Order: sequence, then structure tokens, then C-alpha cells
Amino acid sequence: MSGPVLEPCLCVIFGATGDLMRRKLLPAIYHLAVQGSLPRQYAILGVSLEAEIDDTKFRGLARQALETTGAFDREPSAAWCDDCLHYQPIGQGDAAAFQALAARIAGLEQTCGLPGNRVFYLALPPEAFPSIISALGEAGLNRSAGWTRLVIEKPFGHDLASARQLNGLAHQYFDEAQIYRIDHYLGKDTVQNLMAFRFGNALFESAWNRDHIERVLITVAEELGIEGRGAYYETAGALRDMVQNHLTQLLTLTAMEVPSAFEADAIRFEKVKVLRSMAPIRPDDAVFGQYTRSEKGRPALPAYREEPRVAPDSKTETYVALRLSIDSWRWQGVPFILRTGKRLPCRLSQIIITFRRPPVSVFKFSNGRTAHPNVLTITLQPNEGFDLTFEVKTPGQPISLRTQHMDFRYADVFGALPEAYQTLLLDVLEGDQTLFVHASEAEASWQLYAPMLERRGPPDPYPAGSWGPAEARRLLGDEAPAE
Ligand SMILES: NC(=O)c1ccc[n+]([C@@H]2O[C@H](COP(=O)([O-])OP(=O)(O)OC[C@H]3O[C@@H](n4cnc5c(N)ncnc54)[C@H](OP(=O)(O)O)[C@@H]3O)[C@@H](O)[C@H]2O)c1
Repeated sequence: MSGPVLEPCLCVIFGATGDLMRRKLLPAIYHLAVQGSLPRQYAILGVSLEAEIDDTKFRGLARQALETTGAFDREPSAAWCDDCLHYQPIGQGDAAAFQALAARIAGLEQTCGLPGNRVFYLALPPEAFPSIISALGEAGLNRSAGWTRLVIEKPFGHDLASARQLNGLAHQYFDEAQIYRIDHYLGKDTVQNLMAFRFGNALFESAWNRDHIERVLITVAEELGIEGRGAYYETAGALRDMVQNHLTQLLTLTAMEVPSAFEADAIRFEKVKVLRSMAPIRPDDAVFGQYTRSEKGRPALPAYREEPRVAPDSKTETYVALRLSIDSWRWQGVPFILRTGKRLPCRLSQIIITFRRPPVSVFKFSNGRTAHPNVLTITLQPNEGFDLTFEVKTPGQPISLRTQHMDFRYADVFGALPEAYQTLLLDVLEGDQTLFVHASEAEASWQLYAPMLERRGPPDPYPAGSWGPAEARRLLGDEAPAE
């Protein structure tokens, strides 16, 4: 794979024994290595609390992880683990541990011939972000002989106040240009293609406004429940876990104005403008739900309240539907409906743009049917691609119309798409912040949902495996697609 020539660097990954490292980061790094996309010289230093692990044990764990994820090709990856992976424990993370870490970094850079370019990737539980950022800063690891970049996983705060606090702390030691806030949805090719689709096709961009679009529905549905993450989910809920970040990213990319250039500052500026134009969300425009037990499937699906480490009287929402309005010349009066939930009938991420019907119907049908609106469906996963409906006349008399589909599937043309983390890791190494969330964007997004977080009522029940509470149909309209 050809790409920009990347500068030699050291990647220090905090949380190196965690799930994200095992399932996503390691396989992504290994794939990039096999493709020859990484810098000519680099090293990975895994960091976690665990003092019982050393380089050898860490490499063994990494090999196991690669085997489990199917990315393993025994000889090369065993050698790759031995050559490239290193481990450093930080125990309780005190100043002495960070001085030892700084010494280890300097030693590795010397033995591997690295010039002092460093990535610090925080694949940590969110509560550990502040202490690790401060410790890095206090140990002088926020600056180096080369560049230093700080990658922060989601969630970025759990409300407006905590996001502001985290930004304040990060900015105490790092410039905004050094900080990469991850929302892995932005790493998906199909999400980036939203911009290519809009700004590379004058046909659609000229119709991308209130004159031609009736409504926008953004769905991120998950078939799975909370998969043993009860303790985390009880403190989060669907609004924090999915809406504030992933769905809001899809919303801003769909609604943003054309940026002045395809570069980080211009794009992120336009996305923040969308968030600042959002009308306050009215209580009537929000529906919260929680899944209940369903005996329909085999095996039966448990209720959220029956999941491990969930309170039996929990009021945490596992479903949200919102109707949002954007007070801008482009979008005034066009509802943007967001919905997401766990234990829905299938896994699906999709944006449905419903265009306006012809203002006057010249066709009169005996059955009272009028022409259907054109509908553009952008599917982000699975079966990534587009689908556009249009009306055609069926042959013969009397005249009648039928809705036909024109579609495009990525897999048919391009084969498998790269994993989001491969794209994002390469962008960090390249220093391209386009697909990362700016400080002001993170705060504007929390600001939009802050009133909702405060006044969420008890969620409406919905059976596991259904499309959410009946109450949500009020927001979704009669023709809620994908049902
Ligand atoms: N897992 C995913 O698929 C996924 C997807 C998207 C985003 N994320 C985000 O990625 C982050 C990590 O998630 P995860 O699922 O990997 O969590 P995890 O499985 O609980 O792993 C956490 C890791 O952080 C280490 N750790 C905990 N506290 C630490 C501290 N104070 N200093 C240094 N290391 C510390 C743990 O080390 P010990 O084992 O030594 O305690 C462990 O290696 C979270 O912010 C999560 O929201 C995860």
C-alpha cells in the first residue's frame, strides 16, 4: 500500500493489557505493519498497571491476541512481536513510575534509532485519563526532541462540565494541535465517504437543503445487549454512549456546509457550526426506552434489568429517539431524527434522506396513490453502500408508477474495507487531525444534550428484539424505514 512517508516514532499505548488493545489496536497495527504502511523505524511500548508482565510475557499475550482475532500468520507475526513490542508497568502511576517510564522511552529511542517522535495513546478507562495526562505532563513527557501526540479514546467526559475539565487539563500540558480525540466512527471509510458523496457530486449537493429534503433519519441499531458491560452501561446509557458521539458525528457530517478545503481546521469548523445552530431539544422531541425480557427468540432474551451488574430497578436508557432541528438557512424546518438502541432486531448504521414529493401530482391513480418521494439510503454497516429510489412507469395502460432502486455496494467494487482503527492510527502518525474531534466540538455536543441528561424521565419499556418503544413512532412517523 502506498501512502505518505511517515516519520520514525515510538507509540506508547496505555491500557496495553485491555480489551481495546487486544481486539482492535494490536490487529490494526499488525495489519499496517504487514501492508508496509508503518514508518521504516518504529517501536510499540505497551503500558499498564500490571507489574507481573515483562517484555516476553507481553509479546506472548500479543501473539495470543493476534491468533484469536485471526490476524495471525505464525512466523512473521511471532518475529514482529519480538522485534517491535515492549512493555513497561507503571504500578500505581506515581511520579517515580513516570520517571522510570521516561527513562525506558529514552532507552528504547536510543536502541531503536528513533528521533524522539512520540504517540501517547490512552486506551484507558475514562476515569484514568486525568491522572495519566497530568503524570505525562509532570514527567515532562508532553514535549520531546521531535513531535509528541496524545490520543484520547472515547468517551470524552460524561457531561459538559467533565468534558470542559478534561479539555482544561489536557491544554495545561498539550496544545490542541497535539491532541487526537477518537470517535472511531470517523475512521470508517463509509463515514468519510459521506463527505466525498456530498462534496464530490454537484447533483446531490445542490439538492441538499430544506427546499428539496423533507427529513433525515439517522439510525445506529445494535442487535446485541450490553455484553457483560453492565457496570459501565449503568453510568452511561444510550445518550452518552452513542448519541453524544457517534450519532452526532453522523448528524454534523450530513448537515455541515461545504468546507473551504478538505483539511482538519476547515472541516471541524463547519461541524462545530452545525452544533451551535441546533435548536434546544424540546422534552416532547425525545423518547427514552429500556429493553424488557422477550420470550420470542430461542434462547429467550433477558431484560436489561436482568443483566449482570445492572440494578433491578435501573432507569438507564438502552434506547433513544430524538427529533432535532437546525436553525440555519439550509435546514430550517427539516427534522433530523436520531435513533439508537441495544437489542434491536439487527445491527444497522444508516442515514435515510427523504426528498420532498413533487409539489403537484400530475398522476391521478384510481387507488389514490401518489408518487412516492425519492429516498436516498446511505448504509454505513453492514452491506455498506447507497440506495436511491425513483419512480418509473410500469409498461402498458392504465398508467401506473412503481418505485425502483438504484444501488451501489462497496464490497462489489472495492472488496473489504479497512478497519477504522487502521485509518485512525495512520492519521495520527501522519499528523492529520481531520478525523478527530476538536475540543470545541466535544463541548458543543455535550452542551446540546446537557438538558436531556438532566431531565430524562423513566424510560419506556420495549421488548428485546423489537424496534424500540411504541412511543417512538410519534417521532419516527408512519413510514419509519428499516422496520
Ligand atoms: N473495548 C472496545 O471495544 C472499545 C471500543 C471503543 C472505545 N473503547 C474505549 O477504550 C478505552 C479502553 O477500553 P477497554 O475496553 O480496553 O478497557 P479494559 O479492557 O478495562 O482495559 C483497560 C486497560 O487500562 C489499564 N489501566 C486501567 N487503569 C489504568 C491506569 N490508571 N493507568 C494505566 N493503565 C490503566 C488496564 O490495566 P490493568 O489490566 O493492569 O488494570 C487495562 O490494560 C475506554 O476508554 C473505552 O471506552 C473501547
